Parts: sequence; C-alpha cells; structure tokens
Amino acid sequence: MTDVATIFRDHYGAEPEGLWAAPGRVNLIGEHTDYNDGFVLPFALPERVIAAAGRADAGWAVCSDLQGEPVSFDDPGEPGTVTGWAAYVAGVVWALRDAGYEPPPARIALTSDVPLGAGVSSSAALESAVLTALIDLGGLDIPAHERPALAQRGENVYVGAPTGIMDQSASIRCEAGRALFLDCRSQEVEQIPFDVAAEGLAVLVVNSNAPHRHVDGEYGARRKSCEEAARLLGVPALRDVSTDGLDQTLKQLDDEVMRRRVRHVVTEDQRVLDTVALLRSGRIREIGPLMTASHASMREDFEITVAEVDVAVEAALMAGAYGARMTGGGFGGCILALIDADRADATASAIAEAYAKHGFTAPTPFVAVPSKGATRL
Ligand code: GLA
Repeated sequence: MTDVATIFRDHYGAEPEGLWAAPGRVNLIGEHTDYNDGFVLPFALPERVIAAAGRADAGWAVCSDLQGEPVSFDDPGEPGTVTGWAAYVAGVVWALRDAGYEPPPARIALTSDVPLGAGVSSSAALESAVLTALIDLGGLDIPAHERPALAQRGENVYVGAPTGIMDQSASIRCEAGRALFLDCRSQEVEQIPFDVAAEGLAVLVVNSNAPHRHVDGEYGARRKSCEEAARLLGVPALRDVSTDGLDQTLKQLDDEVMRRRVRHVVTEDQRVLDTVALLRSGRIREIGPLMTASHASMREDFEITVAEVDVAVEAALMAGAYGARMTGGGFGGCILALIDADRADATASAIAEAYAKHGFTAPTPFVAVPSKGATRL
C-alpha cells in the first residue's frame, strides 16, 4: 500500500496531523437481515482504507492514489451535489452537519488495500476512515455506537444507495479475533470470540470476480419487497416475524415470490442466533451447516446468487469445507468457506479448477483474519 502521508505531503505541501484506518468486512452470516431490523455477524478484515488528514482554513479537499482527480468542495450542498467517489466523503460531512455537528474543514489523502467491487465494503471503509478522522480532528463528542448510523445516512441520503447498517457497524465497531453480533434494531453489540486459528481452522474468502449485474436495482427491489411484506403482515419489520408457525404466517401473503423473500429473512435471522449460540460455546466447526443453509436460502428464496458464487460454494464443500456461503449484498462478490487451516491451498485450487471447467474468469482467494475496527494509527 502506498505511504499515504507521502501522498498528503506531495499533494498539499504540508504534514498531515494524523492517520486513521478503517477496514473492509466479510459477513459470517446474516444476509439482507440488517434493513429488516434483524441480526448480522460480520468481522473486519485486515485490509483497510487509510486516511491522512489535517485541518484546513475552509472547505474539504480529498485525493487518493486509487481514484481519479482530486476533489475539493466548499460545502457538500444538497444530497447529490458532489458526485463520483468523492460523494462518499461529502456524504460524511453532510451527515455530520445534518445531525448538528460541525465537522472541521479538512484536507484528506486516502489509500486502500480493500479490494474494490468485491462486496467487502470498500465504500463503508472509506466512509468510516473519513468519519473517524473528522471526529478526531474536530474533537467531536460522538460515541462509537452512534457513528455507523452517521456514515450510513451519508450513503443512503447523500450518495443515494439504500444499504443497511451492517457494513459501517463492522468497519467501526469490530474487534480483532471476534465477530460482531449486532442487533440492527437496538444497535446493541456483543463481541463473539472467533479465533479460528486457535482451533486449527481458517476462513477462506474467494472473490468470485463475477461481473456486476444490476446490483443496485436488485438490492433496492429486495428491500422494497421486504418492507411491503412487513406492512402486509402488520409488523414493524420482518425481524418481528417468528420462525414458529412461519408456514402459516406465509399463507397471509398472496405473492409466492414475496413469501420466499420473507422466508429467507426470517430463517436467516434464526441462523445468526444459532451461529452465535454455537460460537459462544466454542463449537466453531458446527456453524458450517448453518453457513451452507444460508447459501441455499440466498440461492433459492432470496435469489441473489449467481452461477460463479454457486460454483465456488459447491467446489469448496466438495473439497471438504465445513460450510460455505456467499457473503455481502449478492449478484457476485465473495464467498467464504470455513475450512481446516491446512486445506486453504487445496480448497482454493478446487474452486479454481471448477471455475476453469465452467469457463469463468479465475477467482481470487485470500485467508481472512478477524481484525480490529476503525482506529487512529
Ligand atoms: C450490502 C449492504 C448491507 C447489507 C448487505 C446484505 O453489503 O451494504 O447493508 O444489507 O448488503 O446483507
């Protein structure tokens, strides 16, 4: 990764006041449950965005070694005023102000080793690094549990992407060696020990490298369908639908597709709770079947997988993984597989072979180590 302090110096002709980092994430289980007020269990990656930042006299300037031209703006303006990659930065400034805070004018240089477009939350990492830097530089008194919602609001309202609270929560609140059990309604968290290495295990993440196919539209459509189903069922959110008597409950919905969407969300929430219960008692290997069931539910009921991720999951299981599933919003992105630590190369090769057979672009594997959330370096 490029030395971001050097980028700052080269670009602004001054020393940064500090460096702040925020990671990407993978989600162990709990997909499309966050905007249904449900449960998620992500962990942070070692890959992160690093921001070098310093206060300025007026306005905000941002440059990055990975993005195009540097951008500066005197004011973020109304949502949508700043566009392109810098919209994520302007969105953070906008959200802070909209919540009544005064973010300090600042100059920011960014670098990142979070893979872009892989579904491991490179944008949430960017938002969280910038947010943490601005909060520290401005001496703003904002507790950690209130921060993810600010970054999310920037993305929802300013950038216009209708995502949930998981990614920013993971980037800001995760701890090393733990998975973050988040109740997306109350924002309460429990840090769940997830020291896979100590158990001789590893989480293999494989970027499917599937081309993006209508991700934004499909994501929004799923969200709408869930909200409409909650309205029809007379509950505040699908989190409030019980797994007990689920088949009976689903009969209240006329639309067969909607019934399957609801079934995914309700059963997925339960799988998160079951996973947490197993991890609390140190039974890591036993979460495998829940991961695999989650994948089946995403494939059959929520219909957010694509051939590349289905093939990768299948090949990982054939190679002996305890469980495997797609992680993230869907329509491509990464899969993760829980494997014996000494099986990482063999599993990655098995997936690569299956890909070659199907004529897919080669996948990119890496071993994910649960890491810490946003911090000042
Ligand atoms: C994306 C969104 C998250 C979440 C996941 C699916 O990553 O940003 O809020 O909804 O998809 O679980």
